[in-house]
Order: sequence, then structure tokens, then C-alpha cells
Amino acid sequence: MKKKKIITMTLAVGLSTAAVMNNSVKNIVSSITDTTIVQKMGDVNNDGFVDAVDATSILIEYASLSTDGKSTFSDAEKKSADINNDGMIDAVDASNVLTYYAYASTGGQLSMEEWINTGQDTSTTVTTTTTTSTQSTTTTTTTSTQSTTITTTDTQSTTTTNTQTTTTTETTTTVTVANPVISDIRLTRYDIDIPVGGKDISYVVMYPENAPDKSEIWTTSDEKIATVDSLGYITGISEGSCTVTVQSANNPSVKAEIKVTVRKATDRAKEIKLSKYNMNLSVGGRDAAEVTLLPESVENKNLVWVSSDMGIVNVSPDGIVTGLSEGTCIVTVTSVDNPELSADINVTVGRSTGDRINEIRLSKYEMNIPVGGKDISYVTMLPESVANKDEIWTTSDEKIATVDSWGNVTGVSSGTCTITVTSVDNPEIKADIKVTVGSENSENKISEIRLSKTEMNISVGGKDISYVTMLPESVADKGEIWTTSDPKIATVDSLGNVTGVSAGTCTITVTSSNNTEVKADIKVNVAKPAHNFQQINGITYIDGILVANKSYSLPSTYDPGMDATTMTQFSLLSAAASKEGLDIYLSSGYRSYSYQSGIYNNYVSYYGKAVADTFSARAGHSEHQTGLAIDVNSADDSFTDTPESAWLAEHAHEFGFIIRYPKGKENITGYKYEPWHIRYLGVEKAADVYNSGLSLEEYLGIDSYYH
Ligand code: DAL
Ligand code: ZN
Repeated sequence: MKKKKIITMTLAVGLSTAAVMNNSVKNIVSSITDTTIVQKMGDVNNDGFVDAVDATSILIEYASLSTDGKSTFSDAEKKSADINNDGMIDAVDASNVLTYYAYASTGGQLSMEEWINTGQDTSTTVTTTTTTSTQSTTTTTTTSTQSTTITTTDTQSTTTTNTQTTTTTETTTTVTVANPVISDIRLTRYDIDIPVGGKDISYVVMYPENAPDKSEIWTTSDEKIATVDSLGYITGISEGSCTVTVQSANNPSVKAEIKVTVRKATDRAKEIKLSKYNMNLSVGGRDAAEVTLLPESVENKNLVWVSSDMGIVNVSPDGIVTGLSEGTCIVTVTSVDNPELSADINVTVGRSTGDRINEIRLSKYEMNIPVGGKDISYVTMLPESVANKDEIWTTSDEKIATVDSWGNVTGVSSGTCTITVTSVDNPEIKADIKVTVGSENSENKISEIRLSKTEMNISVGGKDISYVTMLPESVADKGEIWTTSDPKIATVDSLGNVTGVSAGTCTITVTSSNNTEVKADIKVNVAKPAHNFQQINGITYIDGILVANKSYSLPSTYDPGMDATTMTQFSLLSAAASKEGLDIYLSSGYRSYSYQSGIYNNYVSYYGKAVADTFSARAGHSEHQTGLAIDVNSADDSFTDTPESAWLAEHAHEFGFIIRYPKGKENITGYKYEPWHIRYLGVEKAADVYNSGLSLEEYLGIDSYYH
């Protein structure tokens, strides 16, 4: 039942789009390039999806074919669009695409071909029954337009005495090649409501589909109320109602009627304004512009949203723009009331500035080296979270000093120059080192070591570094030797990176390789980790809480089933809600690794990976695999504003559950707000998390992203 509703709604959007011949849609259609590659059935725009856009293209093609007979389709598109393979591209094909789209978006797994071949729900698919009218006649001149009759007559002549010749027709073999007659007309709409001066159309489907003559005769019951032209375009003339009838020219007894109601003329949309005309999104990010249609009295406020590149940006029917991959494209909104009115939003999908290198710090900004001497300045690219920390090293004067791709600077001749390091990720970010090359003085020895820090406070597993300055600068050999007083407390590598091993205090020492008498110490305090972190059989427990999120996975073999305590507590929760007249029931509990893999991959194929990752866990990362998580009621946005959702948010912790993906914590949990997904922690811990106002990630001091 629900399925049919979806079809009707989508069809209505598709039709109004086709009827208004929205410019953007037309552009998309005309930008489809000819190709000899055979496209997938139904995927007319060859974007990997069979959806309402394809249905719309088919309807536009149909409108175009039936108005001026011109086609905008390539051969491959024609083949892909002719779903029922009847040699025509029409509303039946569009309807099939929409039915399939509804089927696929509610979880249907079959490809369109398979779906067509295995006898789909034919609620909007027309099964052709050939009604053959065998109006055959034995005369040699057959005038029936309904059939072509080939008649062979065997003639016997009898000669009588009076020489009269009587010709008797003895046998007549009639072969009837039946051309089917129209036996039924169906419309896409039987009620049309338009203002005075408004226009609208209903598409016509004549059956059987293989009837060669599908011409239509349009008439109105009252020309003073509404007129209709030969193509079926209805125009409102004055207030009132009348009936518009379409008849088959081929078989005028077959007709269908549209009840037309003509309302008072309403103001037409004259202007479309947007709250923004530019959008910068990150991949997976969403945004929407507010639309104002002027004048405010416009009755039909319906809008059609189109993305110029559906690989870069997806736009929902209500205008929510989602970044899918890096690039730029245009999102166009068109008024259905006045299709000449449209407005564009320039959308750039990229990484947000916070995801790019925005600072380079150096361990030294000045170098004094002798001719032939070498030095290096260590680089820190910030923020840490950016993966690409690659460096480009350049010198302002190769005759003074050169630099290799690792940043090793070599003095060539006396003088000064600038060595620059640039971020590959963000070439606008650079840092300079002033290099002074003096004449070689091999007698010089390091006499002092300065450190950027002489004390470090780290936790077990934590890391830190202190930058070293060996003086005087002019000494070429600035080699460092790093040692620890207690490797059980903290270790140090040859570059000076210190790592905490266990709680306690020790000393890290750096010694000049040029002059081993010169050293400097760092006091290192290693603290116990803030949280008790354990990994048992590949499963992570933090402070005794089993964690499954984007950062911490579960083994594929971990299949505990639904946890018994979780179920008992959930029954108590459900019973308490029931006392308040509320219905809270389990809709999804334990999900195995392979089941989750199926769900996730399914979402990826419909929404792409970036979008799927905002609401569905990859296999091995779902809390449902722990048997400790439950989705209640209808696990989608329709649950958000229900009394059940409000009650759950307020009382779940009393039964040991938390709302696992809270609102406003999307960037921390890694998932959109899911008011229906609860996680069992036990009453004490759940209450503690609830009272803290934190997400579980914050509470445990962990992150959630795919490493
Ligand atoms: N919807 C949650 C994040 C899951 O897939 O486990
Ligand atoms: Zn869930």
C-alpha cells in the first residue's frame, strides 16, 4: 500500500517537471552524450542509478516526441529507456522506472532487468493484452482499417447450355493479420485543478500497446470554462468545472474523462530569492538555502531541485544539498508555478579549511653553517589530523646553500640565502630559514645544547619531543645521541621522539656527537593513562565498557547474539513506557558481521560511501554486532519528534541505556543524530554518561573515525 503511495507522489513530481520542461532538466538531458556503450536498463542518464531523474528524462522525451516528434535521446538512451521493449518511449516506461525506483529504494535487490523478468508488482506496469478484432470479410476489397485481410478465392466455372457463365465461390481462405484496435485508455490524472489562465496536462496511455494508431481526440464539455488543444493541453478560461474527454481516433467508443476545476486566477510567481547563492561543503557535508517565492500570495509554492552533477552533489526534493565528492557544480531551483523562474547555487565540494595544513613550525629559523657543513630544521605541519604532511624544499640561492627533498641543508659558499619549506597539501603555507654560510672552521666544537623543553608530562602510550639547538651554529656536525635513564618508564628514538611506557619518572639525555661532553637532560614524568584501556581477543574495553565505533572494530568472528541482560532491561523500559501510554518496541537488535556488511553495502550502492558512512556502520564497526544495542520503533527521522523519542531521551538511563548518537555530537560519534539507537551500559554507567551530557566517545576520551 505504502509502495503505491510513493509511486503516485514521485510520478506527480516527474510529470510537473516534464510539463514545465524545466530548463535545467532540459540541459541535463541535452548534455547526455551519445555513446555506443549499451546502457543499463532504465539508467537513461547512465549515472549508475535508476531513479526519478531517469523517469523525468523519459517523460520529457515522451512530451517532445508527442509534440514535435523530435527525439533528444541517443540510441543507447533510447534502448535504456524503452523498458517494456515495445519500440516506444512513453509514460508506461517512465512509470516502470518509478515503480522500480520505489522498489529499489525500499530495499529491493534485483536489477531492473531481473525485476522486469521475474514478474514485478505491476501496479503501474501495464500488461499488454492484445485484443484482436478479426473483422474479416470475404470480399477481395477489404476496407476495414482494423485488419488487413488477404483473401484467396478458388473459382469454379460451370458452363450451362444457354452459355451463361455462373461463377460460384466455392472456398474462401481468409488469412487475417490483425492490427489491434484500441480497447482502453488510461490517464495519469483524472482530476485537474488549475487557476484561470493556468495550463496543465495529463498523459495518456492507450492499450493495447502494439496498436499502431494511438491518435487522440480531445474535447471539452464547456469551452467557457476550459479549453483543450489537440495535444491535450488544458487551459483554464473562467471559474467553474467541466469535463475534458479524450477519445481514441481509432476506436471512438473508447474514451476517458478528466474532471477539470478552474479556480480564481492566483498570483504567479515573479521572483525567486535564495538565502545563499554559494555553498562550500565538505564531502558528506549538508547545507540548504532558504527559498522565498514572491509575491507571497503565490499559491503553488512547489519547487524542483536539480544538481548539474550528481556525482559531486546530491540535492533532495526539499533542497537539502549533500556533498558527494570534491568538485564544483550548480544546483538549480525552479518554480513549478512559473518554470521560467529559477535560481542557481554554485556549490564547491572540497575539504574544509580545518582539514588542510594551515601552519608550519620549524625547530629552527636560522642556520649558521660552514662551507661544506650540513644542518637540518625539523618540521611540524599543523593540524596533526591532515594526512598529507609532505614537504617541498627550495633554496633562494643554490650557489650559497642547497637543500635536498628531506630538508638537509648544505653550505656551498659564503653568503646568506633563504631555504623555504612549503606544504604539498596547501602550497600557500610556507616557512623560511635564514641560512648564513661562513668559511669552514673544523676546530669549532659544540659547546652548548639548548632544548625547547626540559620537562615533559606524558601518559602511558603518549609521545612528545623537545627541539634541540646545538651551539655554536657554525659547527657543521650537530649530530644528536639520545638516551633514556629507564626504558621501562620512557623510550626515545634517534630523532628525540619520547614515548611513555609505564607510570614513573626518568631522564632523557641528548649528547652532541661532535662533543660527547656536552649534554642536556629532559625530566620525563609518565602518568597513568586517564582511562583503563584493554584489548581482549581483538575487542576493545575502555574502563570496562565494550567499545565499537569507527576507530575501534570487532573481529568478524565475534557473534555473541543478543545480550540477555540488555533484553531484560529493554522489556522493563518498554513496560514503563507503556504505562505512560507509549509504545516502544525493538526494531533491530543483534546484527552479525555479515548481515551488517549487507546493510552497509546496500546503502553505499544507493547513496555512495561518504553519505552511507554518516548513518551506517561498516561491517565490524557496528554496535549492533555487540548484542548490546537496540534500534527502537521506526529507525529513521520520523521517530525524532515523537513522544516516544522524548520519553526515551529522558528515561533510557534509568534502565541502563544511553542515546548513543546524540544531537550536536555528530562530529564526535561519527554518525548523524539517531534518537532511536540505544546502547546498554548498565544503570550506573548509563546514569553517569547521561548526567555528564557527553557522548560515549567524550566520556571515554576516544575518537571515532576510520583510520
Ligand atoms: N546506524 C548505526 C550507526 C549502525 O549502523 O550501527
Ligand atoms: Zn542502530
